[in-house]
Amino acid sequence: MCGIVGYVGKRDSQNILIEGLKKLEYRGYDSAGLAVFTSDGLQITKSMGRLVNLENVLADAPLAGFIGIGHTRWATHGKPSDVNSHPHTDNSKKFSVVHNGIIENYMSLKEELAASGHVFVSETDTEVISHLIASLYEGDIVKAVQKAITRMTGAFALGVLTEYEPDKLVAVRFFSPLIIGVGEGENFIGSDIPAILDYTRNVYILNDGEMAVLTKDGVELMTLEGNFISRELFHVDWDIVTAEKAGFDHFMLKEIYEQPKAYRDTMGSRIDPSGKRIVMNELKMTDEYIHRIQQIHIVACGTAYHAGMVGKSIIEKLARIPVETDVASEYRYRSPIITPNTLVVVVSQSGETADTLAALREAKRCGARVVAITNVVGSSVAREADDVIVTWAGPEIAVASTKAYTSQLIAFYLFGLYLAQTLGTQDEAYIADVVTELKLLPDKVEQILQHAEIIKEWAEQISTHDNLFFIGRGIDYAVVLEGSLKLKEISYIHSEAYPSGELKHGTLALIEEGIPVIALATQPELFEKTVSNIKEVKARGAYVFGIHTLGETELVKAVDQVLEIPQTIPLLSPALSVVPLQLLAYYASLARGNDVDKPRNLAKSVTVE
Ligand code: F6R
Repeated sequence: MCGIVGYVGKRDSQNILIEGLKKLEYRGYDSAGLAVFTSDGLQITKSMGRLVNLENVLADAPLAGFIGIGHTRWATHGKPSDVNSHPHTDNSKKFSVVHNGIIENYMSLKEELAASGHVFVSETDTEVISHLIASLYEGDIVKAVQKAITRMTGAFALGVLTEYEPDKLVAVRFFSPLIIGVGEGENFIGSDIPAILDYTRNVYILNDGEMAVLTKDGVELMTLEGNFISRELFHVDWDIVTAEKAGFDHFMLKEIYEQPKAYRDTMGSRIDPSGKRIVMNELKMTDEYIHRIQQIHIVACGTAYHAGMVGKSIIEKLARIPVETDVASEYRYRSPIITPNTLVVVVSQSGETADTLAALREAKRCGARVVAITNVVGSSVAREADDVIVTWAGPEIAVASTKAYTSQLIAFYLFGLYLAQTLGTQDEAYIADVVTELKLLPDKVEQILQHAEIIKEWAEQISTHDNLFFIGRGIDYAVVLEGSLKLKEISYIHSEAYPSGELKHGTLALIEEGIPVIALATQPELFEKTVSNIKEVKARGAYVFGIHTLGETELVKAVDQVLEIPQTIPLLSPALSVVPLQLLAYYASLARGNDVDKPRNLAKSVTVE
């Protein structure tokens, strides 16, 4: 996700901005840029790709000056490119803006400004802000920014410079984080504390709806209406690595806790204001095409494949279209039957997985339409698919995927509901009920996270074992597959996930005294059968940890230890039930002293077949 750094002081700003942006690299980005007030006026240099590209350009043509803003962009509006990178400017090139967040009404503002002669060069919402501020400027940059904000809707953090007032840096926070660093004869802004931690540990944390005006000699804090605010400085006493992890010991744990936000962001404006229907403006497929779909293939790897298995249940249940799931590395070698009425859904957090990309190309070669569910705008998968559903999970740094997986589930719920409402396979009242429940999921995840201590104890118990089993029926089976993968990849404990009813066809031979079995039971219509299967393993000496939906008391009696999770519509339960399994893997890895975020032999983005 995007990063902001700003500096005003007595030192060369270019290096401070670049070093600050390096501290934000972990957030993920696809381009970077700086604007500095130099002896030739406000100068902007931007470059697509890694920061080193920008550094190379600056090595040949440095930006010398004592005030500047910098940005790393994670593409939202418009593909990654030099021109779409920040900072943006207006036609006079006297104003410059960096921005994190989204301006929801940027199209109407753009049309209005274009009608009065403004010419835009990029596809971004941010460029509109620089033109808007320029159009409202009457000799006071603070007032111009305040007026501009009254015209903007959405969420944003801004850093603004103008050549007309070259000693001032204006910063705004409106539902997108921004902090102010306070130094001696120099001051800073940053979208996250690590950006400025090399220079000062004294910060003001801006609240939503507040702004700051920085000069080298001081910082003024005020509301967006211009009322001055006085605030205590906050002294940062963590080191940079901790700060990047926002106080969590590992990125994986941080990302597990970020899931409620990822759910909300992925649902975002895709639920219409009535709260009863799904809006998927990003899809280019027509209703007529949707009516023609005869089958869907969901293709992905690893965790994304497991999301696809849940996706199959969702789409079949809601849209009544037959769905097949395929591991991407197998897909093109099995001569899949693809017709013009086959829709292929590829799922990839990174959007760069070579196996998934190869499957996508095979599907397109055979004439299928391809929808990508991905977390990275502008990734190869996103560029090559016909339609893209972006999951707004934010950058995922831990190798073990957590929030990307659950955001993929949310994307499948939205897509399944959208297909159902287009095809009329579910009545409006049912769709409205599912949407209502969907919106409650983030709070319910938060409730589960409050029970992390129980899972930690379970993890400590299982961490001494070398083998264990996960069981579940129906959609729970897809979830335990993911729980088992998570445990394997970071704890290195061997585990197998089985449909509960399948054990007796062979695997039951492996159940012996004391072996841990994790049983998931969230589906009311399969509940009694699952309890019977639990009894089968208990009778052979297994020690059973049961995870079930609140209110199902029979399971409590059947297992050795139990965790209750909040109730929801059974179809939505994977978005809740996977969370304790993620925590189980995390704490088991921790108990075994493993490198949780960087497990052996694995990479975050697998770009080889
Ligand atoms: C496991 C994990 C992997 C990925 C797989 C696909 O935690 O992260 O199994 O899910 O390598 O990666 P993407 O989603 O980037 O295509």
